[in-house]
Amino acid sequence: MIKEYAEYKIAILGFGTVGKSVYEIIKNESNEYIDNIDVLYVYDREDKLESFRKTYNDVEFTSDINEIMEDEDVDIIVECLGGVDYSFKVFNLAVKCNKDFVTSNKALLALKYEDMKNMARDNFINLYYEATVMGGVPIFRNINNIKKVDTLIGFIGIVNGTTNFILSKMEKEDIDYSKALKMAEEKGYAEKDASFDVDGIDAKYKTFIILNYMYDRCYALDDIINFGISNITIDDINYARNNNKVIKLIAACNIETGFVMPMFINDDDIMANTSGNTNILEIHSDNLEKTTIIGQGAGGLPTAHSVVSDIVDITCGNMIFSNEFEKAEIKNDVESDYYVRTKKKIEGFDIEKINEDTYIIKNSELKKVYEYFKDTDDLFIAKM
Ligand SMILES: NC(=O)c1ccc[n+]([C@@H]2O[C@H](COP(=O)([O-])OP(=O)(O)OC[C@H]3O[C@@H](n4cnc5c(N)ncnc54)[C@H](OP(=O)(O)O)[C@@H]3O)[C@@H](O)[C@H]2O)c1
Repeated sequence: MIKEYAEYKIAILGFGTVGKSVYEIIKNESNEYIDNIDVLYVYDREDKLESFRKTYNDVEFTSDINEIMEDEDVDIIVECLGGVDYSFKVFNLAVKCNKDFVTSNKALLALKYEDMKNMARDNFINLYYEATVMGGVPIFRNINNIKKVDTLIGFIGIVNGTTNFILSKMEKEDIDYSKALKMAEEKGYAEKDASFDVDGIDAKYKTFIILNYMYDRCYALDDIINFGISNITIDDINYARNNNKVIKLIAACNIETGFVMPMFINDDDIMANTSGNTNILEIHSDNLEKTTIIGQGAGGLPTAHSVVSDIVDITCGNMIFSNEFEKAEIKNDVESDYYVRTKKKIEGFDIEKINEDTYIIKNSELKKVYEYFKDTDDLFIAKM
């Protein structure tokens, strides 16, 4: 739906960290784009609305989703709720009521990707999601510009701030994993369920969304390999350091590869030196070669910046996100060496023993390594 010279009316769903910041940006910034957006409704749970109304008196707060959907003046639903099942119901309602949809919810998009893309395409709905990956960092806009004139090769990056914070703390302060995780939790960086971050699931969702976007494809989420960092020790960090490397939880893809796993990075590389909860993405393409974007992967205002950019692009008719895609397979057949620490007996690989339970697996296919180790409890594995 493209309206010319008209004010766009939006409803913000979820008035938490992101939703409240979306509201603040729209209220506090003023220019020809922002002034064209009006927040008509804010939706959240009934028990919070009274206190919201005391602070904000220029918007209608409601806990009735149908009131919003049935209001024909609402052009864009801005979903900042989180969760999957209810948010997907809301997306269905938005499609039925012919409203464009902007979301910051990576779990929703990753788990319902194919359905959402199909429904958006079939019903001529704009589905925008810059904030789902790397919060405030405008990666889809950059990839979109590059792919207009160049052939994309792939990306490599750090897309989860929590694990980057943990690994940086261990590396710089010589503290163990559990202490570094506790610090991340105290700072509010870790998700409520920390395994979402430390097992690489958050990064896997993001990798899936970027990979699909890069090639206008839909891969199978489960084909993206993820190993996490929850068994890393200071010995692993020291082994890397003694070899002039730093261990980072890396997300990477090319047209046939997609994985999230710890990786040894040269200690003078920009990625090795991207510390704290900062995110970084290197986009590789034929002519431009390497484009690096670094920034805030989370936080209210940075993430809301991306959400508002999406709203502005819809109001301007800028088609950043296509809903066309073809199905595709990930092969993950790249060969590499792997650093592995486990008590599990390793058979069927060419290995070099480093000490009692630490080995280097030589020149093996990623998929084969994953299949062999994926259910191993005491494992720490890193791509070399
Ligand atoms: N925070 C970040 O830095 C960041 C960065 C990038 C992406 N995101 C994504 O953005 C989304 C929102 O994150 P957030 O940090 O803003 O979350 P949040 O602070 O928890 O805010 C979500 C708000 O929505 C409300 N809500 C959730 N389900 C609801 C329902 N069924 N009905 C009514 N209200 C409901 C929540 O209420 P209750 O608290 O009572 O459930 C809360 O007020 C998530 O998908 C997250 O992954 C967040």
